[in-house]
Amino acid sequence: MALRNPIPSTYAVAPARVEDLDEIARIERESFLVPWKKEFFAAELDEPYRYARVLVGGRDSEPRVGGYLFAVSLYEEFHINKIATDPRLRNLGHGRRLLEDALSRARSVGATAVTLEVRLSNLPAREFYRSYGFREAYRRKSYYQDGEDAYAMVLALEGS
Ligand SMILES: CC(C)(COP(=O)(O)OP(=O)(O)OC[C@H]1O[C@@H](n2cnc3c(N)ncnc32)[C@H](O)[C@@H]1OP(=O)(O)O)[C@@H](O)C(=O)NCCC(=O)NCCS
Repeated sequence: MALRNPIPSTYAVAPARVEDLDEIARIERESFLVPWKKEFFAAELDEPYRYARVLVGGRDSEPRVGGYLFAVSLYEEFHINKIATDPRLRNLGHGRRLLEDALSRARSVGATAVTLEVRLSNLPAREFYRSYGFREAYRRKSYYQDGEDAYAMVLALEGS
């Protein structure tokens, strides 16, 4: 899917590196009720079958890291563990750039489905995923530490 609202951006999608971890952890704390610790992200950089990307760039007062996406290839499944953009940069198309890069990778490694979990209350993210054709496949009861349920969302890739 092409960007629906392409905007000029100084950010580029790049492999996540150790020097990005402090900024990733900051965005994570500002984005999630129960954030992953920096060490979780660091461990992902060393594991096989992982896909870890950041948006890097920014000008003037913009942050150097604008967002990130971490995923894992599990046989035919490409599972997105984390996606977030800096709260100051939301609704500018940055999340779409990250997700579209990940979907492109999922296709190139031959995945037949892209999967993820999302909080029921996270309406912006649910809408974001739906706009790509993700379906709410089933509900996971009390999936999160605070007891909230998740929807498992699935995108079947074309040609699968
Ligand atoms: C989900 C997230 C990554 C999207 O990033 P973003 O940079 O804002 O995304 P984009 O600007 O590229 O896309 C915006 C799309 O998100 C959806 N969206 C965003 N805010 C929305 C809102 N308040 N209500 C409904 N849909 C919304 C829409 O589909 C919108 O597309 P549109 O502008 O064409 O209508 C971002 O909101 C985020 O980091 N949230 C906090 C972390 C999080 O919840 N991650 C997902 C966990 S499963």
